[in-house]
Amino acid sequence: MRRKFVAGNWKMHGGLARNRDLLDSLIKGIGGGGKADCAVCVPFPYLAQAQELLKGTAIAWGAQNCSEHPQGAYTGEVSAAMLADFGCRYAIVGHSERRSLYGERNETVAAKFVAAVDGGLTPILCLGETLEQREQGVTEQVIAAQFDAVLQAAGVHGFANAVIAYEPVWAIGTGRTASPQQAQDVHAFIRGRLASSDAALAQRMQILYGGSVKPQNAAELFGMADIDGGLIGGASLVAQDFLAICSAA
Ligand code: 13P
Repeated sequence: MRRKFVAGNWKMHGGLARNRDLLDSLIKGIGGGGKADCAVCVPFPYLAQAQELLKGTAIAWGAQNCSEHPQGAYTGEVSAAMLADFGCRYAIVGHSERRSLYGERNETVAAKFVAAVDGGLTPILCLGETLEQREQGVTEQVIAAQFDAVLQAAGVHGFANAVIAYEPVWAIGTGRTASPQQAQDVHAFIRGRLASSDAALAQRMQILYGGSVKPQNAAELFGMADIDGGLIGGASLVAQDFLAICSAA
């Protein structure tokens, strides 16, 4: 039985005072932990704050990106080792906003995944198709290409300590959620693809759904056979909503 996992992706939101209120509420709400794992992925400058407030609680923390390089002359970049210094367990890699707005190609995402693993972090690898790709009927090809690039770079052993998130681009921040069955179909496809390399690992892999998850739709999504929790954007900024989604897991 896989444990459910709910991770918040704060994106570029927050501030010291507001984060403190949010994290205090989450700590109170989650207490000693529930049936599901829980984490928040915060902007880089707030990692120290997350570490200070969340250390010793049932809530883990992570970053939203990491460099593909271990160190060097890469102005503005942050390495996996630096994230580990701040107690990060997770780093999101390949989020669709990074792919579409910052030109991250499958190869870049794969290199970041490898760097995260090498740095001792658990990458949360995001995969997802655009609306145009879904309408063209090429969802599986797109997901396969995104996934295979990482598999090729990291090897199947690279997935031993990783999480995958299926995030259809058309469902992110739009209020338009994939139906539980639409999401389940892609989750099963991803698990099957991993199973071709390592069936036991595929059975253990946590595959999260992301894209307009709200308290109202979380339980139904998380009830699907291959959906192991969620990667939550907007609703992770509202303590009551994020806690409700964690409870649904
Ligand atoms: P929303 O939950 O705001 O749609 O964002 C999803 C997401 O991009 C999480 O990474």
